[in-house]
Amino acid sequence: MEMDAATLVDKYVMNTYGRAPITFVQGQGTQLWDSQGNQYTDFLAGIAVVNLGHAHPEVTEAVCEQAARLVHVSNLYYTEPQARVAELLVENSFADKVFFCNSGAEANEGALKLARLWGKNKMKGAFTIITMERSFHGRTLGTLSATGQDKIQKGYDPLVPRFKHVPYGDLEAVKAVWDDNVCAVLVEPVLGEGGVVVPPDGYLPGLRELCDSHGALLMFDEVQTGLGRTGKLFAHEHFGVKPHVMTLAKALANGLPAGAVLADVEAAEMFGPGSHATTFGAGPVVMAAAGVVLENLVNGGLVEHAEATGYYFKAQLEGLAAKYPKVVTQVRGLGLLLGLALNMAAGPLVVRLREMGYIVGAAQDTVIRFAPPLVVTQGDIDGLVAALDQALAEI
Ligand SMILES: Cc1ncc(COP(=O)(O)O)c(C=O)c1O
Repeated sequence: MEMDAATLVDKYVMNTYGRAPITFVQGQGTQLWDSQGNQYTDFLAGIAVVNLGHAHPEVTEAVCEQAARLVHVSNLYYTEPQARVAELLVENSFADKVFFCNSGAEANEGALKLARLWGKNKMKGAFTIITMERSFHGRTLGTLSATGQDKIQKGYDPLVPRFKHVPYGDLEAVKAVWDDNVCAVLVEPVLGEGGVVVPPDGYLPGLRELCDSHGALLMFDEVQTGLGRTGKLFAHEHFGVKPHVMTLAKALANGLPAGAVLADVEAAEMFGPGSHATTFGAGPVVMAAAGVVLENLVNGGLVEHAEATGYYFKAQLEGLAAKYPKVVTQVRGLGLLLGLALNMAAGPLVVRLREMGYIVGAAQDTVIRFAPPLVVTQGDIDGLVAALDQALAEI
């Protein structure tokens, strides 16, 4: 490799990402190092993925041990790591069954297929699925059709038909478009890509009531909000409501590709042998990592840590909002999924923070998104807040 990684990637990889000019070579906990030896504190964790932190020793050990033992045999046979993760997910959620796949889009694609079968088998062929404006559900043709953002759909029409998009957080808007053809509602309990938006209290319980009264499925996309991110194991726990179906991915295997569709017993029965499948889903190595992730979340106190540090972080950001009222319009979010809404483009601040050694993201054009590894410390937060204070003062 004579050229550096950035030159080679720009030359040989399709141009679908706006990449920052950094080549990361190593991580440890919340810390990252680039090829020039610069050190950064990671407040994005991939994009809400590396919840246990980079190079978590238990994950590394489980992955290496499993890779040396057995990597792949397909889903035509049973494997032990898959069994353990399925048990942990079901025992700690509303669900009775899980289907494993490899990404968030694939998990949502599975949920959409399940909803289609539900409509056919239980609702006289109903097949409309209600989703939300500004939602994000993935980049497959089905999930981008479900997604409520023109920029994600642009150029890919004709889209998969029969999605109805309504404003997020507005129960009346859902009621207004409801007809006999609706078989499911798919919604993020907190909007992630759509700008870190927490819905009003009665919204999700209201959706559940509405779905139950019509016999339709309520499906939560917890790809970004699930697995401790918001200070609860699943974000819907904040709202005292359960879905019929829930999708997970991102943090499930701390950076290895894993996704899951969880469902209650009635919804889960829609799938039978041959009706849905994937070659790689729940492979032993990925599931070995997922087992460690779930053990740390469920039995290791990581969710409680995320909740406590999330409160602390939000209070610090609110302090900055009070100090810079002309720039910061709102602090939003739950746990360690937080957004700083600005009355200017977020991009320049994201770049400035990176120059100061902090990796953060943007959600929509004017919101800085923070989604650090859940192991983030108050010291990490104090450092970020001091840097942000300086960057805001410079504006
Ligand atoms: C809420 C939500 N759903 C689905 C996805 C798609 O996940 P993936 O990129 O793993 O396909 C994302 C990714 O950002 C997401 O935030």
